[in-house]
Amino acid sequence: MVPWKTDRKILLAVTGGISAYKAPDILRGLVKAGCRVEVVLTEDAERFVSPMVLSTLAGRRVWQQRDFLSDDHGWEIPHIALADWADAILVAPCTAETLANTAHGQGQKLVGALLLAAHAPVCLFPAMNVHMLDNPATAANIALLRERGYIVVDPESGSLACGYEGRGRLPSTEVILEELWRAISPSRHLSGKKVLVTAGPTWEFLDPVRFLSNPSTGKMGYAMARAAWYRGADVSLVLGPSALHNLYGFSVVPVVSAEDMKREVLARSDDMDVIVKAAAVGDFRPASYSGEKIKRRDRDVLSIELEQNPDIAAALGERKRTGQLLVGFAAESHNLLENAKGKIAKKNLDFIIANDITAPASGFGTDTNTVRVIDAGGACTTIEGTKEDVAEGIWDILLGGWPPSS
Ligand code: C5P
Repeated sequence: MVPWKTDRKILLAVTGGISAYKAPDILRGLVKAGCRVEVVLTEDAERFVSPMVLSTLAGRRVWQQRDFLSDDHGWEIPHIALADWADAILVAPCTAETLANTAHGQGQKLVGALLLAAHAPVCLFPAMNVHMLDNPATAANIALLRERGYIVVDPESGSLACGYEGRGRLPSTEVILEELWRAISPSRHLSGKKVLVTAGPTWEFLDPVRFLSNPSTGKMGYAMARAAWYRGADVSLVLGPSALHNLYGFSVVPVVSAEDMKREVLARSDDMDVIVKAAAVGDFRPASYSGEKIKRRDRDVLSIELEQNPDIAAALGERKRTGQLLVGFAAESHNLLENAKGKIAKKNLDFIIANDITAPASGFGTDTNTVRVIDAGGACTTIEGTKEDVAEGIWDILLGGWPPSS
């Protein structure tokens, strides 16, 4: 777990919509992620979810409307103390009324006063009937809140408890956690920047049922994309065939072959501030494709002629514009540093991340990795840990002197 995700103080405010029944699941997700959680409920929320369920899961008392302006707490003023304590505040679900109250600074109730006193990032997760959401008053409140720096996360589409189909569902706990991490990420260095990451293997078909590939799972590229998103980037992930899930927040472009990947990457590359080529692109593909399944017949040996795939990173290096950062990955089994350094020059990269695929707990498919981050001047830093930790360490180095000041 990356250090800034551990032991965070999260305030979960639950307001009174039907999806408040999912609050225990969100609370469990936060606790499981290692957060310290305080829960606040509105009076209406208590009609949908029992305070006792939440206090049992939180392992501590919950805060209710009756605690507001009560003299049970001595000198402590709950809405101020809680607002000061929190590293981040999540309002999930957030009703239309809470959106309106927050947009208009209404502090007559505990949750409203707490949000007025808040100085940590606040993420609001509206969930309601589609017409309530589309109502111009709600839309205007959301726009105003965003303008004022609140993070308002769009609800999902699907079947709603009120019987409608449409926008208005509370996102999953997984999504709520991702939004939380993005809100509290210590670095916003990529805010407003466009980052393209390639990840996964390529499949090079020789007939309708057989292909040439490699064991890449896309985990390292995914970790690079996720860490860039936490840092505020608008992330496009060009992804070869992979079982990765939780691609929330990215604009995902699925591809199969190296040719597909080249086409999709080059179509977007001019717009990008940073391009990270973490995909394990197949260097070769069958020289010809058989539209029919190749039969075994009586032969013992089948020879397949291979031809080279285009080098996408080199093509990007040729058209790289000033200020654009181009980063390659190099999976090596021998002469790691020498081979990796050669590729920086050959492909006009700014950095290469060299990966010894023969090292234990490193390389394809593992959850951990050891890499060397090498810049164009040859300076080299070793980073090891989970792929998530390694991605954070890589970004810290990549962005150390970027964008160049001039
Ligand atoms: O395969 P190689 O070690 O040369 O890969 C180094 C970098 O070049 C990687 O970032 C990889 O994604 C990229 N590459 C590519 N197109 C290829 C082969 C490699 O973009 N055909």
